[in-house]
Amino acid sequence: MRLVLLGPPGAGKGTQSSRLAAELKIVHLSSGDILRAERKAQTKLGRLAQTYMDKGVLVPDDVILRMMIGRITAPEARAGFVLDGFPRTIPQAEGLDARLAEVNQPVEKVIDIVVDDTVVTRRLTGRWTCPTDGNVYHEAFSPAKRPGKCDACGTALVRRKDDEPAVVSQRLATYHAETRPLIDYYRSRGVLVPIDGNAEIDEVYGRILATCRGRG
Ligand code: AP5
Ligand code: MG
Repeated sequence: MRLVLLGPPGAGKGTQSSRLAAELKIVHLSSGDILRAERKAQTKLGRLAQTYMDKGVLVPDDVILRMMIGRITAPEARAGFVLDGFPRTIPQAEGLDARLAEVNQPVEKVIDIVVDDTVVTRRLTGRWTCPTDGNVYHEAFSPAKRPGKCDACGTALVRRKDDEPAVVSQRLATYHAETRPLIDYYRSRGVLVPIDGNAEIDEVYGRILATCRGRG
């Protein structure tokens, strides 16, 4: 299964992708998580990305394409992948499609998680993330079993810097200007599946899984 999850910041791309990847035994590739790991390691890429991420704007397409394409075509991803946060612009989608066409492994489904801006803002301001394994929680909607600690590894949870209200507004504006055009791009290619994301995590997951299994 070769999937892309589309949707605004806070739509639940990360939450749903990790569950899908575990269930379908495919690789979860999150461009945001990769960039945050590079930042943490203070690599050249990480330092470059930081300046864009902290403002809530996109890292340049050529940098992102270089970072993602190798991982998507790596042997570990041969059984399938779910892409989370990539592609995010038309040039990124064109770069991805061109490379996947070369290996005859096109994207099969693009799941667009549709959620209102007011809902995503509430989700982002209550989000807590594990800095060790990237697990995502919400203080009201998906709380950790022990407050402030990751269920999987016990690390103290942190808030993402770009979840401050001013940066969230910029991320939403960036999404509407640069990423929403991908909805028409993938619809015209016959692979778009819109899913109503204004529901509880398990319900949204059930809808996505049904779609992946051809029942949606
Ligand atoms: P990235 O990390 O991709 O951030 P994003 O797209 O803004 O999305 P988020 O990770 O904030 O949200 P999500 O949809 O994963 O939601 P989540 O599951 O966490 O990108 C960060 C930055 O990196 C960008 O701004 C850019 O600078 C750069 N970047 C990354 N990719 C790039 C690219 N391709 N090109 C250029 N630049 C790039 O859920 C959110 C919260 O809601 C959680 O607390 C969760 O528990 C909760 N929740 C989830 N689902 C539900 C539900 N159904 N009901 C209630 N709560 C829910
Ligand atoms: Mg995410």
